[in-house]
Amino acid sequence: MLRHLFICLILLAGSSLMAQDLSARIKIDKDRVIGDIDKNIYGNFSEHLGRCIYGGIYDPGSKLSDKQGFRKDVLEAAKGLNVPILRWPGGNFVSGYHWEDGIGPKKDRPERTDLAWHTPEPNTFGTDEFIDYCRKMGTEPYFAVNLGTGTFDEARNWVEYCNVKEGPYYAELRKKNGHPEPHNVKYWSLGNEVDGWWQMGHKNAEDYGKFALEAAKLMKWTSPDIKLIAAGSSNFYGNSDPHGWNRTVLEYLKDYIDYIALHRYVGNRENDYYAFMASTIDVEERTKIVEAQIDEAMSKMRNPRQIYVAWDEYNVWYRARGGEAARGRNALEEKYNLEDALVIAGFLNAFIRNAHIVKMANMAQLVNVIAPIFTNENDMFRQTIYFPLALYANNSFGQSLDVLVDGPTFDTKQYQQVPYLDVSVAYQGEEVVINVVNRHKDQPITAEIISQEGQFSGPFTVFEVNGPDVKTENTFGKEVIKSVKKDDVAASGAGFSYTFPAHSYTMLKGKLK
Ligand code: AHR
Repeated sequence: MLRHLFICLILLAGSSLMAQDLSARIKIDKDRVIGDIDKNIYGNFSEHLGRCIYGGIYDPGSKLSDKQGFRKDVLEAAKGLNVPILRWPGGNFVSGYHWEDGIGPKKDRPERTDLAWHTPEPNTFGTDEFIDYCRKMGTEPYFAVNLGTGTFDEARNWVEYCNVKEGPYYAELRKKNGHPEPHNVKYWSLGNEVDGWWQMGHKNAEDYGKFALEAAKLMKWTSPDIKLIAAGSSNFYGNSDPHGWNRTVLEYLKDYIDYIALHRYVGNRENDYYAFMASTIDVEERTKIVEAQIDEAMSKMRNPRQIYVAWDEYNVWYRARGGEAARGRNALEEKYNLEDALVIAGFLNAFIRNAHIVKMANMAQLVNVIAPIFTNENDMFRQTIYFPLALYANNSFGQSLDVLVDGPTFDTKQYQQVPYLDVSVAYQGEEVVINVVNRHKDQPITAEIISQEGQFSGPFTVFEVNGPDVKTENTFGKEVIKSVKKDDVAASGAGFSYTFPAHSYTMLKGKLK
């Protein structure tokens, strides 16, 4: 009996210890600037894949669409993401896309079979429709050219169609198609994931470097102010030599490109919550490796000029991947939950913490296909991953500040001492935005937020993305996971404290003078 009582007491003592708040310190110094945050890190991507374009962005038969066939509800939701730049038309699709199929009278446009996703491509949505959509959305178009089955002449002609005011054949063709003014497309990527065996027209690094260099020359000679993005290594673990690919590509293209593109999709196949939470560490590690490779390439440039990193595809993607889930009209229709939303905040924190070199990032993709917006014929809803992206993209601007986080950590098979609190800080004028993911699954963490320079002056506005369980999803008519405005928090002097709930993303916004 006594023994039983003793065990109960030990268990009780243990559980009260467990219930204690964990604590941490977040130290900010407004003098320690990492770099300017480029708004283009909040970009997005729309590919001719599944129901992203047809049935998502563009649905001319629908009662929910405007006169041009654009779904109005989708456009409104997309505007909420404050998308600064939209990549198009792919993705794997672009490696078989011939842009001239998608211009001119719709009745004359050919239907083709897209071999990336094994679907018919009607070509009723093409260059001019995409530009119209970008203008309506208030976003910058970002085109990818076909360096798979395409030619560099085709790439150069597309630049002429979009950017040359008048005179040559393709500029006049655009005018004939009802667009007297040039589209002025500034961002162009030189193919997509050309290092991947799954790509139409897959090449080795040398062949891609040589081919992309000729395309780059012709494109720049046609429109000298364009920004070019090289296809860096797409899949770190799937490619046997990703570092080698990037080094060779930078060596060939360094005098023409402004960015090198990297891609990263993460997932939770093993249902290992903490390993999943730590998965964005890889994004920072890869960024640092590529930054060093850029430095090396720049040291050999004819006219030194900075090249940046563009994470032009990133997201959580593991459920609707492979087999039938990756083919046809309903391909890649991933449903997201709270833990996915926390990982998205982790990606965005990683981009902000590397703001000096990461100058573009594009969540893949906008609608239905691994996307923050999901539709059916009658309705739409915002997936969990919509909400962190919307908070960052509407608030975190200015300079990225270095931040010290001193607090409890966890270990995974791959990484040791991963901080539960994942933090980034943006500072503009006198406004500071503190983004905090508490990755602890069960416990809140109370942090002292300390400014080493200057004084906080409250109140701070607080928004939180959280929910009953890390597996909670949203659906039609039921957006359970969303951003919720909490009570303001008083802050003055050099510090204030805030308790971050378990499995949450919190944005604190206030003054630091
Ligand atoms: O975004 C889905 C696909 O992922 C893209 O088409 C491709 O570039 C990547 O492999």
